[in-house]
Amino acid sequence: MPLGSTFDLTSSLESTMKLFTTSLLAAALLTTAGMAHAAPNCTIKLKGDDRMQFDLKSVTVSASCPSITIELAHVGKMPVQAMGHNVVISATKDLSTVAAAGIKAGAAAGYVPKADARVLAATPIIGGGAKTSAKFAGKRLKAGGDYSFYCTFPGHSAIMKGKLVVTK
Ligand code: CO
Repeated sequence: MPLGSTFDLTSSLESTMKLFTTSLLAAALLTTAGMAHAAPNCTIKLKGDDRMQFDLKSVTVSASCPSITIELAHVGKMPVQAMGHNVVISATKDLSTVAAAGIKAGAAAGYVPKADARVLAATPIIGGGAKTSAKFAGKRLKAGGDYSFYCTFPGHSAIMKGKLVVTK
């Protein structure tokens, strides 16, 4: 049927146009997402509580950040002697040995071994209601490397830890 054929052709053209428009929209969305992704995150913002937990299991930062800021808020109420929290960053493979060295360094050292090359960054240790921060250069991290953040208060690093994902 000639009439049917004409109808089908028009319908097919419309479908092609719709597909084309959809593709353009998808491409535009992908570009926007790509741009948003490219904006580097230079802050590690964590909350620690009286249940010996960080609020995040993973944080992503960029090695291109001239300076990365660690911001830690202890949202609990327990004193530093009982439920102290800090944020230490190292390669994941060094987590347990750095935590052990931290315990050896003791409370006066904030449970962080001094002049230890494995420690890439560390905040002071704080108790409930307090906030602290520390800064370090993004170039200390390598994009795609395996890093962790954790608390070195005795006994905490086993569960009070997360993955630090590093992008370019
Ligand atoms: Co802790």
